[in-house]
Amino acid sequence: MGYRRAVFLDRDGTMIEDVGLLKDPNDIRLFPDTIDALLLLQDKYRFFVVTNQSGVVRGEISIKEVDAVNRRLDEMLRSRGIIIEKWYVCPHERSDRCSCIKPNPTFLSQAAAEFGLFLSKSFIVGDHPHDVFTGDTVGTFGLYVLTGHGERHLSDLPPDRLVFHSLREAAEWIVAHPSPHTYLRECTERGAEAIRNGGLVVFPTETVYGLGADVFNAEAVARIFEVKHRPLHDPLIVHVSNVAQALLLVSELPPLAKKLMDRFWPGPLSLVLPKSPNVPDVVTAGSATVAIRMPSSPIASDLIRQAETPIAAPSANRFGCTSPTTAKHVIDGLTEGFDVLIDGGACRVGIESTVVAVEGDTVRILRPGGISVEDIEAVVGPVSPLREVGVHAGTSPGMLPQHYAPQTPLYLYNPIPSSLLMDKNAGKLLLCPPNENLAGPLEILSRTGNLNEAAVNLYAAMRRLDSLGLSRIVSHLFPDEGLGRAVNDRLAKASTTEM
Ligand code: TXA
Ligand code: MG
Repeated sequence: MGYRRAVFLDRDGTMIEDVGLLKDPNDIRLFPDTIDALLLLQDKYRFFVVTNQSGVVRGEISIKEVDAVNRRLDEMLRSRGIIIEKWYVCPHERSDRCSCIKPNPTFLSQAAAEFGLFLSKSFIVGDHPHDVFTGDTVGTFGLYVLTGHGERHLSDLPPDRLVFHSLREAAEWIVAHPSPHTYLRECTERGAEAIRNGGLVVFPTETVYGLGADVFNAEAVARIFEVKHRPLHDPLIVHVSNVAQALLLVSELPPLAKKLMDRFWPGPLSLVLPKSPNVPDVVTAGSATVAIRMPSSPIASDLIRQAETPIAAPSANRFGCTSPTTAKHVIDGLTEGFDVLIDGGACRVGIESTVVAVEGDTVRILRPGGISVEDIEAVVGPVSPLREVGVHAGTSPGMLPQHYAPQTPLYLYNPIPSSLLMDKNAGKLLLCPPNENLAGPLEILSRTGNLNEAAVNLYAAMRRLDSLGLSRIVSHLFPDEGLGRAVNDRLAKASTTEM
């Protein structure tokens, strides 16, 4: 039975570094966790590689060169006990309209016929939207990885596709959820039922994982504060799946708020609005305003729709710690106190929503986040500048100076002194690859210095460095534009001293 299930693997950017035209087998660079990922899967799944090599038809690389690389990679894997059953290469380009280029499932069907596979119990993993679409018409579940070109193409990936930081994370998810469609449907149903019954549910959103309860059940909401060890004076964000639900929660809707909702919902923007008396005080920490957002994650909106109530939810971590962007991050910090956890892979935005207060004609940014200030200003004109971190902590407790912090002390510099760059006990958290060789553990948030990509990776990278038992983590201020502002805000709050 096990041998009728397959994992189809994209090659470049998924198993190995994507270096463009890979001609010389000596240039193969396996990702560090490729072997571990495949070892996890090999008891239950047979492996096939499906790769598009359009350089062949363009005359930039020969099929011989492609084959030589595949043979070497095959040997490298075989020496670790991993067998690739067959290597499928499409040499064409899209304009050739061949039947073998992904997302056509031709190679999957061929493998199924030759090896007797159940495609509906199989998976395909890759770093391009075409990879995950390849399984659609034959019932093979696609998983998207952020390695290779994954981060760059993320904006082309429909919101309902699951995303993972690496092949290893994707493999762990496959092992845990061999029937993915059933798992996601049933788990969401159980989550909705738990919410209706006053329980707590951990669920993915596009920003970070949330720990949610029925907004109208004050007792259930109070338990969120207990489980998170969160002070009761820090209000929660309420998540809705449609505008009508949001209208139930507010006493008025200023026209500017309507404009922002029209433009950015569903998405990572929380609006702080005058609250309706319907909303229990525990949700808003006694404030006359309520923060509301409509998540774009289909799992989150399905959960809310099925629960038939807005869901109050902070990030699913202990108060003051780094927010979780994978289900594993959640259980590393919170082991009990919730009824259902929906594992929907990695969060795509990776940083919390932008919190905005709309008071009549003015818009004030309370917390920078997944929607940039520039994008907001393009809709409503100039906004009141962000108040200084810590100074107005009473206004939005997310502005407390210590927040989002790893256990290892984090120090922020501008720039990082070279003595620290060469200190092997200092973990480095950098926006883009350094020019020189550095000592000690290194996390690069974006190969091209892209700030959206940096946001997706920030918390996961912080956690990896935090797990190494280092004496310190050092980082630097990022460009203060776009999502860079939100990243700087989180780095400042995570840091022991600023600058
Ligand atoms: O992306 C997000 O916003 C995530 C996901 C789960 O949706 N949620 C999140 O929640 O980050 P939390 O609780 O970690 O942060 C909520 C922020 C806090 O800074 C809180 O003080 C602020 O929103 N907030 C909530 N209600 C508010 C209100 N009525 N007035 C001012 N600030 C408010
Ligand atoms: Mg939080």
